[in-house]
Amino acid sequence: MSVDSNRLDTLLKENRRFAPPEAFRAQANFNDPGIYERAAADPEAYWAEQAGNLSWFTPWDKVLEWNPPHAKWFVGGKLNAAYNAVDRHRQGPRKNKAAIIWEGEPGDSKVYTYDMLGREVDKAAHMLKSLGVKKGDRVTVYLPMIPELPITLLACAKIGAIHSVVFGGFAANSLRDRILDADSRILITADAGWRRGSLVPLKKNADEAVEGTSVDTIVVVPRVGEKAGVQLVEGRDHDWNALMAQQPATPFEAEPMDAEDILFLLYTSGTTGKPKGIVHTTGGYLVGANTSLRSVFDIKDEDVYFCTADIGWVTGHTYIVYGPLSAGATVVMYEGAPDFPDRDRFWDIVEKYGVTIFYTAPTSIRTFMKWGPQYVEKHNLSTLRLLGTVGEPINPEAWMWFHVHVGKEQCPIVDTWWQTETGCAMIAPLPGITETKPGSATRPVPGILVDVVDEQGNSVEPGNGGYLVIKKPWPSMLRTVWGDDERFRNTYFGKFEGIYLPGDGAHLDEDNYIWILGRIDDVINVSGHRIGTMEVESALVAHPSVAEAAVIGRSHDVKGQAITAFVTVKEGIEANDALVAELKQHVATAIGAMARPEEIIFTAELPKTRSAKIMRRLLRDIAEGRVLGDTTTLADPSVVEQLKTLYKD
Ligand code: WT7
Repeated sequence: MSVDSNRLDTLLKENRRFAPPEAFRAQANFNDPGIYERAAADPEAYWAEQAGNLSWFTPWDKVLEWNPPHAKWFVGGKLNAAYNAVDRHRQGPRKNKAAIIWEGEPGDSKVYTYDMLGREVDKAAHMLKSLGVKKGDRVTVYLPMIPELPITLLACAKIGAIHSVVFGGFAANSLRDRILDADSRILITADAGWRRGSLVPLKKNADEAVEGTSVDTIVVVPRVGEKAGVQLVEGRDHDWNALMAQQPATPFEAEPMDAEDILFLLYTSGTTGKPKGIVHTTGGYLVGANTSLRSVFDIKDEDVYFCTADIGWVTGHTYIVYGPLSAGATVVMYEGAPDFPDRDRFWDIVEKYGVTIFYTAPTSIRTFMKWGPQYVEKHNLSTLRLLGTVGEPINPEAWMWFHVHVGKEQCPIVDTWWQTETGCAMIAPLPGITETKPGSATRPVPGILVDVVDEQGNSVEPGNGGYLVIKKPWPSMLRTVWGDDERFRNTYFGKFEGIYLPGDGAHLDEDNYIWILGRIDDVINVSGHRIGTMEVESALVAHPSVAEAAVIGRSHDVKGQAITAFVTVKEGIEANDALVAELKQHVATAIGAMARPEEIIFTAELPKTRSAKIMRRLLRDIAEGRVLGDTTTLADPSVVEQLKTLYKD
């Protein structure tokens, strides 16, 4: 197992501690430290108690059925996620409370109360139904961060259709792969999206993506309008507004879903070139999301909660849509870039809406640091009471900057470790209880049994590192990989029997705090986006000039990791700057801009073991300029020397 040794060095020197401020502790939803022990003694009882915060049409008969690696939670229970996220709040004092405060990048804004949101969701559900969408159908959603995105998800949930959101930054090819894998016949998209004042051509990509798929219906939200210059294809494409206007204003009956019915698919990268459709079910996922908002995010009715993620990723699913709405919170949703029109956009939003809880990514914090504190200082952020981070390990320096400049040393920070697969935060402080250490996600949340183990699966002693594992099932765990249960078993339960392997390395400190060290597989984390090395390699070798490619993640000041591609060209091809530019663009076009390599290094050969495996660790050492490790297994050691010189140039 190879992990970032620089990170380990820094962490081992970190000895700052931050106890929850007394005022925070006193008002926190979770402030009894005994909760950890009680939940550990009987996790099923703990989760059953948490599940009581949702509205069930039919109560469950059994909390957990565990046939490793398959779990069923709240067996026999029936509920509906949209009913829980919207309708139940329409019946009480939250009826006219703001559910979503949305701000568009150009500066337009809309507020949806729970009642208004409910009416829109009902209309959208009628619309989907009129287009033939039924329970269990997969609806692919490729939308920018506009209100129609959560409305579509909730409408799917209301019908019992399975949504599969594809992040708007993905290119046509990636969208096509996901449509094909999910076998969707309907796609919801927009004419275009706004990003940093420019247009993201969603409909154009969608047109390309649906070629050769079973999509026969596309609904297009006119986000941009005429400027987008899109054409609707007769018989296939529909204008969202026109369809919505035709729908009855009557309530849409929420489908009573079995707790184990699928709520959504969300694709994520793994070690092969093919993305995995992570399957989340209704009951367990919603219990996890809802509990997390109340425990880790201490959500209250008075809060204005702003998560800067995109709903195209799991963070947005759980922490913009299902978590906060199921808890009846007010959510701020922002469409665009943090530096448009200026670098203070987030702080402007915090001040304007009185945001109390702010959740973002370490890479964003490092970007703010680079821009300087003046953008933060321009605004009154005194409403903030809690901060959170997610996506990658946070370096203590960024943690401290967040604490000092944004939190004014008053707000606890919750560093939340989790994954698309886990559904909600697994390792994170409870802000009213847990003492934090900058750079550590601290300890597992109540009801979650995390450990750090060695190669044989034995727990390591404090002060050591190893594989991060989760030893017991939890409600919001993935149930399988869509259409590929074998891959589910092998990837997550193949190494240690009945124990979930997330694919991260971790260090356990003397206080049993967990320090995530990063991925131990061939997955790169670029600005919190998970990208498989194989996906980028496949894109590169598909280019006519490329013979072979090896892709690695090297450490990067702002992005956490950046993609470096080592490429050998075909006989007779000239490896020059023009080709570098072309290949970078080629990858962006094939996958999406976030997969664009930071640098491409041409080399006559790739370092391989005698059994012809590319030595990625070695490439990473080269890219990061470290002293080389053992290269005796290398088939041709001179390759390394050549590579080192090339890299320096
Ligand atoms: C991978 C999961 C969970 C939503 C965002 C990413 C890394 C995530 C942390 C954190 C250290 C983190 C892990 C994990 N990661 N949060 N707080 N500290 N590492 O979801 O795309 O499924 O990626 O992101 O490596 O395995 P994802």
